[in-house]
Amino acid sequence: MPSSTDKTTVKSRNYDAVAGVYETIAHIYSFGLIRRAKMAQLRYLKRGARVLYLGAGSGEDAIAAARAGARVTAIDLSSRMIERLRRRLMRKGARAELIAGDALALTPDPLFDVVAGNYFFNVFGPKDMPVVLVRATSYLRPGGLLMIADMAPPRGLLGPLAWLYLKFGLSFFWLLGLASQHPIYDYRVEAQRIGLEEVAVHDHRLLGIGPALYRTLIFRKPEKGA
Ligand SMILES: C[S@@+](CC[C@H](N)C(=O)[O-])C[C@H]1O[C@@H](n2cnc3c(N)ncnc32)[C@H](O)[C@@H]1O
Repeated sequence: MPSSTDKTTVKSRNYDAVAGVYETIAHIYSFGLIRRAKMAQLRYLKRGARVLYLGAGSGEDAIAAARAGARVTAIDLSSRMIERLRRRLMRKGARAELIAGDALALTPDPLFDVVAGNYFFNVFGPKDMPVVLVRATSYLRPGGLLMIADMAPPRGLLGPLAWLYLKFGLSFFWLLGLASQHPIYDYRVEAQRIGLEEVAVHDHRLLGIGPALYRTLIFRKPEKGA
């Protein structure tokens, strides 16, 4: 579904077709690391912080943040994902503002303290991803945090094996029409390019050894001039 932004047309993907199984598949495929990379963000959330989850899916991270005392808004193109998230929140006795719609078309007022894009930016092709990243940053107040959980760029001796594993997953979603083909993005480079400050990077490895497969990244929007 194409979404209009100021300067370009970005190709988004609606995950309605896999809403019931996405989180489970991701969990099994990654031996729990996909979830771990999202949950590692919780320590950076203050109680009462206004947090926006972009492409929230069925939102295990958004639910955890709401239960930890954050004021959560979650948006996803997929109304099935949002419906699932609504039911799960009710079961857990947690609250969040839920929006079924285009995360690139928001005009938040006031701006958010934290914006999270978990396994969201990699849905977009290499031309679109930097545009989406800038868009996400525009939703943050100066001094606010951008949090990303996603695939780690393969490095080191076992990097080629990690690359094969990650590319297999990406290609599977590409075959389903749910992702574009692209290199494993290095969000540190992208964030530096747009003037974000790096706060923390946590790598997640199988059994704590071997190459990093997934990564948690925390950036700060400078108080002035991001
Ligand atoms: C790979 S899934 C990740 C879901 C969730 N963040 C997670 O970690 O489980 C990407 C999600 O982004 C959503 N999405 C893609 N483009 C979007 C857009 N422009 N606005 C809102 N959601 C979008 C899809 O519907 C899908 O649910």
